[in-house]
Amino acid sequence: MEKLRSFKSFRHLTNTDLVNEETGTELLEAQAHIWNHILTFINSMSLKCAIQLGIPDTIHNHGKPMTISQLVAALPIHQKKASCVYRLMRILVHSGFFALQKVGETDDEQEGYVLTDASKLLLKDNPLSVTPFLLAMLDPVMTKPWNFLSTWFQNEDPTPFDTANGMTFWDYGSHEPKLARFFNDAMASDARLVMTVVIDKCKGVFEGLESLVDVGGGTGTVAKAIATAFPQIECTVFDLPHVVADLQGGDNLKFVGGDMFDAVPPAEAVLLKWILHDWNDEESVKILKKCKEAISKSNKKGKVIIIDMKVENDKDEDDESYETQLFFDMLMMALVTGRERNEKEWAKLFEDAGFSDYKITPILGLRSLIEVYP
Ligand SMILES: C[S@@+](CC[C@H](N)C(=O)[O-])C[C@H]1O[C@@H](n2cnc3c(N)ncnc32)[C@H](O)[C@@H]1O
Repeated sequence: MEKLRSFKSFRHLTNTDLVNEETGTELLEAQAHIWNHILTFINSMSLKCAIQLGIPDTIHNHGKPMTISQLVAALPIHQKKASCVYRLMRILVHSGFFALQKVGETDDEQEGYVLTDASKLLLKDNPLSVTPFLLAMLDPVMTKPWNFLSTWFQNEDPTPFDTANGMTFWDYGSHEPKLARFFNDAMASDARLVMTVVIDKCKGVFEGLESLVDVGGGTGTVAKAIATAFPQIECTVFDLPHVVADLQGGDNLKFVGGDMFDAVPPAEAVLLKWILHDWNDEESVKILKKCKEAISKSNKKGKVIIIDMKVENDKDEDDESYETQLFFDMLMMALVTGRERNEKEWAKLFEDAGFSDYKITPILGLRSLIEVYP
C-alpha cells in the first residue's frame, strides 16, 4: 500500500512537471548546475595533484610543447596510471592551467602541452610562485574545518577550525610546526608577489617615512622588501613570539615578538598586510587602536597602511573576481574570526577606532592599499 502511494506521488510529479518539455529542460539545467557545484572541488584537487607531481616544472623544463607520451615518460608515476594522465591534463587545459600547441610546423603534427600565465606562476623556482599558498590552503588541516561548517553554525565555537581541531587556528600554529611552516611559506610567497607590485606602483606611500612596524609581519618578507627599497626607514617586524623567535634582522630591520592586542612597537607608519581580514570588527577596532597608540608614541603625524581586500558590490565586477572575494570571505569564516569587507565596512572600522580619514588605492587584482590617518 505504502509503495503504491509513493509510486502515485512520483507519477504525479512526472505528469505535471517532467512531461512538460520546457519544465523538463529547466529541471535538467538545474540538475547540471547542482552537479557542477557538487564537483567544483575537483578543480582544486586536480590542480594540487598536478603540482605534487611536478607537472608545470616538467613541461617548463622540456622547453617546447610536450606531447602526452613525453609527459607520461617524464612524470614520477606508476606505469599502470599512464593512461590517466591525459584525463588529468584535459581538465587542467579546460580550467586554463595548460594549453595545447602544435609540436611542429605541419598540420598533421601532434599537439603538446605548454604553460599558461597561471601555471607559470606555479613553477617551483619562480620567485613569485603561488605554489606554497596552494599547498597550504589545500592541506587536510585547512580543508577539514569545511566538514564542520554546519555543526559550527549550531554550536558556540568561535570558528569551524575550532570545532574541527579543538583550538584556534593561531594556537594550532604555535603547537604544530608543520602548519606553522606551511602557513608562513604561503604568506611569504604572497608577500613577495604583492610587494613587487606595491614597491613599483606605490613608492609614494613609503617615501619620507623614518620608521615602520609591520604588525603580524610573519617571517619578514614584506618588511625586508621595504627595508631594502627604502634604506632610510627603520623597519620592525612584529609578530607572535614563536613566529619571530629565531629570525635575524639586518641594518635597518629588526624582529620583535609580542601580542598586537597588548601593544604595538612605536613607529611613524604601521603596516597591516592581510591582518584585519583575520579578525572580526570588534577585534579589528582593538588592533587599530593599538596601532594609533604606536603612531602617537612616535611623535609623528603618521599613518596605518593596510594591504587587504576591498570587496566590490559593483554589478559590473567580473564574475570570477567577485566569486574569489566571496571564497576568501568564507575562508576567513572557516579558519578564523575574520571577514572580507567592502568600503563602507572598512570606513566604519576606521571611524570606530578614532581615525579621521583614509585613502584607498587598488594595487593588484583583488587587493587594495588603504592609508588611514589619525
Ligand atoms: C595572515 S598572516 C599575514 C602575514 C603577513 N602580514 C603577510 O601578509 O605576509 C597573519 C599574521 O598575524 C600574526 N598574528 C596572529 N595573531 C597575532 C597577535 N596576537 N599579535 C601579533 N601577530 C599576530 C600571525 O602569526 C601571522 O604571521
